[in-house]
Order: sequence, then structure tokens, then C-alpha cells
Amino acid sequence: MAVMEAAFDPHWREAWTRRQVENSLATPHTYAILIDEHGRALDDGAAAGGFVLARRAPGEEELLLIAVRPEMRHRGLGRILIDRFSAMARDAGAERIFLEMRANNPAERLYRGCGFEPIGRRANYYRTLDGTAIDAITFARKL
Ligand SMILES: CC(C)(COP(=O)(O)OP(=O)(O)OC[C@H]1O[C@@H](n2cnc3c(N)ncnc32)[C@H](O)[C@@H]1OP(=O)(O)O)[C@@H](O)C(=O)NCCC(=O)NCCS
Repeated sequence: MAVMEAAFDPHWREAWTRRQVENSLATPHTYAILIDEHGRALDDGAAAGGFVLARRAPGEEELLLIAVRPEMRHRGLGRILIDRFSAMARDAGAERIFLEMRANNPAERLYRGCGFEPIGRRANYYRTLDGTAIDAITFARKL
């Protein structure tokens, strides 16, 4: 939650609340990947540098959220998180992985760089704090 609060600009209303995270992690198919500032799996008690929240389904997995602390960006941690998520999905038998982002999120470069391609658009799916509607773009990558 510390990374969540630091990483997301409230304007876009993308961050999840603690309750949303707890509820999602209470379901059997949702999991989190946490890394430290060096990209290593997080030791007990260490501060998190970034995280992924993901959901598993037969043959596919979805990246629900990804975030890296602002002061630790552009060092490859986002890429490490996506690589780790992809490897875990592959090991679990997934053939495709998905994610959805608001149109115009700069994270698109990272996603494309990791092999994701756009496969769909949901019109006016997100709403910013000031009420502006923004499309959602769905990306997929074959493993
Ligand atoms: C999206 C996000 C997770 C990326 O994290 P990150 O750790 O900065 O990601 P990376 O460092 O792997 O890659 C980001 C950029 O840094 C560059 N980079 C990676 N390693 C680098 C290095 N050693 N030196 C310089 N640049 C580097 C990458 O090429 C990439 O550049 P580009 O965007 O111009 O293509 C982060 O920006 C974030 O938390 N954003 C807010 C939350 C959000 O919007 N999440 C997505 C929606 S859920």
C-alpha cells in the first residue's frame, strides 16, 4: 500500500484501496509479486520498491496493477516485474497474458517493449477525478 499511495497520481483514479487489495487477494486466483529496490524478491520487513497484482485463470493470466516508487523508476524495475509475472504465468501453464490500461498511460512504452500488443478498446471506461472519460486499451502477449 505504501508503493500504491506513492506511485499513482490521484487524478487518474487508478490506485486501489487497501480494502480492494485485501478483497482481491482473499480470492484464490489473485496474487501479488513484490520486489525491493534492487528488483529482488522482497524479504520480510524490507521496504517494497514495486509490485504487481495479478489474476490467474486456466490458460491465461491478467496483470491487474503494476507500480514502482517514483524515485526508483527508469532503472528497469518495471521490466523486472513484468518479466517475473510472465515467467510465473508460463510456469502455471498460461498461453496468453493480458492487461488493461487507460489510453495515454506512458506505461504503454514499457508494455510494448515487453511484447504486449493492443487487442481491444473499451470506450469511456475510466473516469478521471474531474469527470473526464478515458478509453481503456486491452493488451495481450502470447507466451
Ligand atoms: C509503469 C511503471 C511501473 C514503470 O516502472 P519503471 O520501473 O520506471 O519501468 P522500467 O524502468 O522498467 O522502464 C521504464 C522506462 O525506463 C527505461 N529504463 C529502464 N532501465 C533504465 C536504465 N537503467 N536507465 C535509464 N532508463 C531505463 C525504459 O527503457 C523505459 O523507458 P521508456 O518508458 O522511455 O521506454 C511506473 O512508471 C509506475 O509505477 N507508474 C505509475 C503507476 C502506473 O501507471 N502503472 C500502470 C498502470 S496499472
